[in-house]
Amino acid sequence: MNSGLLAPPAVRAGGTSSRPPEASLTWTDPVTGRQGFLVVDRLVRGLASGGLRMREGCCQEEVRDLAAAMSVKEALHYDPEHRYLPMGGAKGGIDCDPLSSEARGVLTRFLAFIRPYVANHWATGDDLGTTTELIDEVLRELGVEGCITPVVATLDDPEAARKRFADAFAVEVDGIRLAELVGGCGVAEAALTVLDREGTPRSSATAVVQGFGAMGGSTARFLHAAGIRVVGISDVHGTVANPRGLAVEDMLRHRGPHGAIDRSRLGSADILLDRDDCLSLAADVLVPAATSYTVHEANHDRVTARYIVEAANLPVTAAAEDRLRARGCVVVPDVVANSGTNAWWWWVLYGDVAPDAESSLAKVRGALRDLVTETLKLAEDAGWTPRQAARHLADARRDVLLNRPGA
Ligand SMILES: NC(=O)c1ccc[n+]([C@@H]2O[C@H](COP(=O)([O-])OP(=O)(O)OC[C@H]3O[C@@H](n4cnc5c(N)ncnc54)[C@H](O)[C@@H]3O)[C@@H](O)[C@H]2O)c1
Repeated sequence: MNSGLLAPPAVRAGGTSSRPPEASLTWTDPVTGRQGFLVVDRLVRGLASGGLRMREGCCQEEVRDLAAAMSVKEALHYDPEHRYLPMGGAKGGIDCDPLSSEARGVLTRFLAFIRPYVANHWATGDDLGTTTELIDEVLRELGVEGCITPVVATLDDPEAARKRFADAFAVEVDGIRLAELVGGCGVAEAALTVLDREGTPRSSATAVVQGFGAMGGSTARFLHAAGIRVVGISDVHGTVANPRGLAVEDMLRHRGPHGAIDRSRLGSADILLDRDDCLSLAADVLVPAATSYTVHEANHDRVTARYIVEAANLPVTAAAEDRLRARGCVVVPDVVANSGTNAWWWWVLYGDVAPDAESSLAKVRGALRDLVTETLKLAEDAGWTPRQAARHLADARRDVLLNRPGA
């Protein structure tokens, strides 16, 4: 491909475009004054997919970027051989501490206000500060069956789909739910793919993971299982490092609620560091798996890794990404690296994968390896960033999807 013939797609951080979303709504809670946001980046077949987050400081711009990234994640996994037909992207966000006493009331009133969307168009789920179980519970109180109601309504055999979904969500592997593992499995596979491409043997490769919750914990598990030395892991309280490698499975076994590392159970050679020190630990791969905008203009020069594989949504700002690229650090974007969870939900629901661990993890691995390989190859050939390449692939796949006979 000749980069002189094809202009790179305009993208912001998170693989989003400058194109305005189809709908954007700001809600103010009449009881607490807290704000909630719903952004529908685009509907495809009248549907959009994307989680609902709750955190103090959540803002409309963040939700808009996340919604646009969801459109890209959906389209990237279009496969004409699949029953799953990708949707558009949407996202919800509430500016409220999820652990505060007012949180549940705010969530309930927000979902009541946007009920027509969750009942008919927006298939949602957990994100930072929420769980699928909690959203389902609130929706049931509002007379909506659950998070995935709009999609289930379009299926030929809703009962069978519901059963597959429930079966898959009941699976656990060594103490962690499959639904939590698939995302990290995909992120780890993305990291392994970039290392394999450059010929780095797993036995000498190192990684650092920022965050030890659903994404960070499961990514660390799969990297460790693949023979990568995980030399640093952080949580909201600080970083734990060990240049010889952390005992990841022990740390997972003793992990506390909300992804907390149990510091009373660490090995004697483990070192306690400040929270943001994880960014500068020497490693081949840095996996940000915590908050958005964590690598920015003021701290990108602390990063020493050659690859950043984005498990979190929007962890690297656009300005930081430009600087990192200039000094040779490759960012595997969130829309690719962490897309395994979203795709897996729909593969299970539509019946493209069996609701068991073996088939699910194998499918996520295969899909992520192919997607990372295609994205990086296009980026190299066209002289684009991987994020621009992912956006281009998504646009092309959505065009094919929308132009299918009968679409
Ligand atoms: N859970 C999923 O399936 C999924 C899928 C795609 C993307 N994501 C994204 O991944 C990110 C993490 O989600 P999660 O579900 O793992 O969250 P989580 O709440 O399960 O875990 C978050 C972890 O990050 C840590 N943390 C919080 N602030 C930190 C900071 N400043 N520095 C270091 N660690 C910090 C917490 O202590 C915890 O260990 C979010 O951006 C989310 O949108 C999650």
